[in-house]
Amino acid sequence: MRLHHYMFFVSAVCLGNLVATAQAPAPTTLKDAFRNGFVIGAAINADQITGKDARGDAILVQQFNSITAENAMKWEIIHPRPNAYDFTLADKFVELGLKNHMFIVGHNLCWHSQTPDWVFKDRKGRPLTREALLQRLHDHIQTVVGRYKGKIDSWDVVNEALNEDGTLRQSPWMKIIGEDYVVKAFQFAHEADPNAQLNYNDYNLETPAKRKGAIALVKKLQAAGVPIAVVGNQGHLHLDSPSVADEETTITELAAAGVKVAITELDIDVLPRTWAQTADVSLNIHLDPKLNPYPNGLPDDVQQRLAKRYADFFAVCWRHRDVINRVTLWGVTDGDSWLNDWPVQGRTSYPLLFDRNDKPKPAFAAVLKTAAN
Ligand code: XIL
Repeated sequence: MRLHHYMFFVSAVCLGNLVATAQAPAPTTLKDAFRNGFVIGAAINADQITGKDARGDAILVQQFNSITAENAMKWEIIHPRPNAYDFTLADKFVELGLKNHMFIVGHNLCWHSQTPDWVFKDRKGRPLTREALLQRLHDHIQTVVGRYKGKIDSWDVVNEALNEDGTLRQSPWMKIIGEDYVVKAFQFAHEADPNAQLNYNDYNLETPAKRKGAIALVKKLQAAGVPIAVVGNQGHLHLDSPSVADEETTITELAAAGVKVAITELDIDVLPRTWAQTADVSLNIHLDPKLNPYPNGLPDDVQQRLAKRYADFFAVCWRHRDVINRVTLWGVTDGDSWLNDWPVQGRTSYPLLFDRNDKPKPAFAAVLKTAAN
């Protein structure tokens, strides 16, 4: 190649690169922005599963590449009576995910909430024996996981087994079966679908004592030879806590136990806190106007603080994308959020990335940018 040809070639390549850089459009969707790190999920409700909420579904399909059923696969819905399963919603949920090539999360198999009382009792209303309850847990997991074998990618096998101090919660599962119920649940799930990714899921893992409990649980499962792949930290956050540093420590300490970390139920609450600092779904506090300060819209300064908080949180996830495999928001729009009714009923809550009119909030743009750094 003659020199001037070579120079021409070099400058053409440089120019080409420049043009390419200048023209590469910044991703405009969450799923594209984070594609090289982790999937981005949303929890979806019955209206979104059935297609009744067409506007919510449009956002879902455009922005997200993973779904979790907000309630449709919980025991009380999928298995309301002994020997009576109802897969109507769950089947539609899975179909929606398959049709859109989404990473499908099953939530959940073993929990103390939204599980009917009959589960723990015999036909005469007496508490079940350990053996009988283990059999019931086995049959439930075998039936539900077996039905969606090869379709549901990831299961929250046990949800919220821990107290805040890191000890095991005295749930009916624990009281009747004993502490090996966690290992058993994972074994049953693994038997039913050996290729499914299995998760332990809980909230407040930013609290050191509870996190220690979660890590101990992971070690116990590993020692029992049970393939626990992921710890899900729910991520029900507030505007000012937990700190970003605590989020980061939580991710790195959990990952050091030999699991991936997922943020499974992300929302950021801007409303005043009640005495409740947990995600215990049994709480129900009386509505007081002081607890509902923004019934007609979020003031701009709070909107901006929310955007910054979201960006800071996603920046941590992005930095740790080698160990984070999923970030799931607990709802599509603010109007969908459980935080409108928990722990106080009838509040106007603003915890997600899309507003009540389905429009992206400033937090959405702020989050998109974090993947570029
Ligand atoms: C919540 C749902 O969002 C509500 O619709 C329902 O009434 C109660 O449960 N931790 C969990 C989720 O693991 O299943 C809970 O979902 C929120 C807290």
